[in-house]
Amino acid sequence: MKVLRTIQELRSALDQEASPTAFVPTMGALHDGHLALVKEAASGHVAVVMSIFVNPLQFNDKQDYEGYPDTLDEDIRQAEAAGVTHLFLPDLHELYPAGPEGMSTFIHVTKGVEVLCGAHRPGHFDGVATVVMKLLQIVSPDWAYFGRKDAQQAAVIENMVSDYHVPVKIITVQTVRETDGLAMSSRNVRLRPEERKDAPNIYYALQTMKNVYEEEPFSPESGRTMLQKFVKGTVEYAEVRTYPGLELPAENYRGTLLLACAVQYDQARLIDNIMWTRKEEDHVS
Ligand code: PAF
Repeated sequence: MKVLRTIQELRSALDQEASPTAFVPTMGALHDGHLALVKEAASGHVAVVMSIFVNPLQFNDKQDYEGYPDTLDEDIRQAEAAGVTHLFLPDLHELYPAGPEGMSTFIHVTKGVEVLCGAHRPGHFDGVATVVMKLLQIVSPDWAYFGRKDAQQAAVIENMVSDYHVPVKIITVQTVRETDGLAMSSRNVRLRPEERKDAPNIYYALQTMKNVYEEEPFSPESGRTMLQKFVKGTVEYAEVRTYPGLELPAENYRGTLLLACAVQYDQARLIDNIMWTRKEEDHVS
């Protein structure tokens, strides 16, 4: 695995590759969820580029940014073992030479961000879209891989790539869970022991709520109240939306549904979701 710290180093290393490129952007603190993306990316004869960059533009909270877990040595080891061929480790100056706020052009996301996480984290998806666009320009991958746990992020990126005609195929990969159902996240290490015991209830609740919804659709407000009965953390939202449109579903909607939530614990804000598809022949009460 080549470790590359500058854009120029990465581009000249990729210029020497005959094979197509698969790209897994990350912020490090790797867990099995990231490694599942790499495994999927590495399943063909391709160069697999992973980036590790903690992007200040997408954090609403300075403390969250400064305290973001940093496990670089272990990340390097895991990335190589999983099949990454090129690890891109730019520093802040490499990606933002004039500082993040010194850029003259930002991507401003206008659709699908007034709901779910977007409603609670102003500017977050502008920061994500801006850095992902930068990385896509630098790496020029044929495929880019994102986890379905961040379903709204995946929808925003798919829309951006389509709006800007970026020649990349976005692939989304199933959420990886701990054996007790908790979705893997770099932020799980911040849970206190009693919160760690509580957090698997999120996934259990989502499964139960999906069944309730199919019997009797509930509003975002009722969804929040319902999830709050299952968990001790504070529920920010729990609602059903269409995917990838993120609209409130009409009564007779057919297609993919997303039940997504965010729960705030003392030092960790966790998100999770489940998706299912209603087919033409499905009966909806
Ligand atoms: O999902 C993440 O880890 C980040 O939002 C991403 C896509 C690497 C952009 O910083």
